[in-house]
Amino acid sequence: MPGPNQRAGTSQGWGIIEMDYRRLGRSDLNVSAVCLGTMTWGEQNTEAEAFEQLDHARAAGINFLDTAEMYPVAPRAETFGRTEEIIGNWLADRGGRDKTIVATKATGPSTRFPYMRDGKPRLNRAHITAAIEASLKRLRTDYIDLYQLHWPDRGGNAFGALGYAHDPRADETPIEETLAVLDDLVRAGMVRAIGVSNERPWGVMRFLALADAGRGPRLASIQNPYSLLNRSFETGSAEVAVREECSLLAYAPLGAGTLTGKYLNGRRPPGARLSLWPDNRRYQGAQAEAAVAAYVALARQSGLDPAQMALAFVFSRPFVTAAIIGATTMDHLRDNIAAATLTLPPDVLAGIESIHQIHTYPCP
Ligand SMILES: NC(=O)c1ccc[n+]([C@@H]2O[C@H](COP(=O)([O-])OP(=O)(O)OC[C@H]3O[C@@H](n4cnc5c(N)ncnc54)[C@H](OP(=O)(O)O)[C@@H]3O)[C@@H](O)[C@H]2O)c1
Repeated sequence: MPGPNQRAGTSQGWGIIEMDYRRLGRSDLNVSAVCLGTMTWGEQNTEAEAFEQLDHARAAGINFLDTAEMYPVAPRAETFGRTEEIIGNWLADRGGRDKTIVATKATGPSTRFPYMRDGKPRLNRAHITAAIEASLKRLRTDYIDLYQLHWPDRGGNAFGALGYAHDPRADETPIEETLAVLDDLVRAGMVRAIGVSNERPWGVMRFLALADAGRGPRLASIQNPYSLLNRSFETGSAEVAVREECSLLAYAPLGAGTLTGKYLNGRRPPGARLSLWPDNRRYQGAQAEAAVAAYVALARQSGLDPAQMALAFVFSRPFVTAAIIGATTMDHLRDNIAAATLTLPPDVLAGIESIHQIHTYPCP
């Protein structure tokens, strides 16, 4: 255990840890428990900074990168596709493509991308085909290890929406059509495994049932938000993940950085995500602030770094296969990787549960 207000690390230096590898779903991919998020590269981080992160991550045993055609964030026409390009440049420069598990995503329907596929991206045959061809070119590779659907091509509650309003007339791409395209991509050797993101239990079970009926490849993973600020995955999807061996890849494990405590009491550190984009409301507001304050206080009373406590909680959940960490500095990266091997003592876990009883899902 680290001493008061110390961070977990090792005697050899930050980030040199024994990395854990897990099978992704029922696929033949063995991924590191720490997946490196990339969505700041090309916006908050330069290519040189991304290369430094990638080199360090590889040296620390991370073999798993998560990106998306729409990255970096905040997305805009001028930077569209830049993150995939940076990864492609690094793979071309450093080699080791076969040692690297590259996950990317096809964008679902949204009106926020006027520059993408006539401004109406969908998960139908034409759009997925166009999306993957462009991703392969940017990534400078001829296959994607894990191809994910960024969000469903149907309405419903994702990205903080509460409740459920069903629209029987909604314009949706049938899951059957999407899975048939993915089937062709897998058969063509362009994709090794498929996954969904921001998906709910019904969608996951539907994909799995179709695969079991021989209608396409089996989902290997679900990439959903999971953190101390949003444990909604536990109520329905965790059971699906475990029983169906469909791996949870937990994104935003620090609630966009809020769980570090750096935004408490109105602080807005220069250059930090929510200082740059204050309209990014998902992890802000009175309920989020109260929950973060309670978790940060618990960490400090327990002699832990708040970010590492939050990450260690996610890493240690039995239904989490990998946590996708995000970093904009090398210090973040080293601290966050080290959190993967931090064991939270029973009193800290009990404290977390007590806070969760009061501040349940402040940021769905
Ligand atoms: N599928 C999806 O819809 C979806 C959505 C979101 C993310 N993702 C994936 O998940 C990855 C991680 O998401 P995320 O970036 O939101 O994760 P996060 O862990 O919640 O937040 C990471 C951010 O927090 C700050 N931070 C990280 N470690 C810190 C530390 N030790 N001390 C202080 N600040 C620290 C950094 O931002 P600042 O320096 O700006 O503060 C960093 O970029 C993304 O790169 C992406 O691959 C997927």
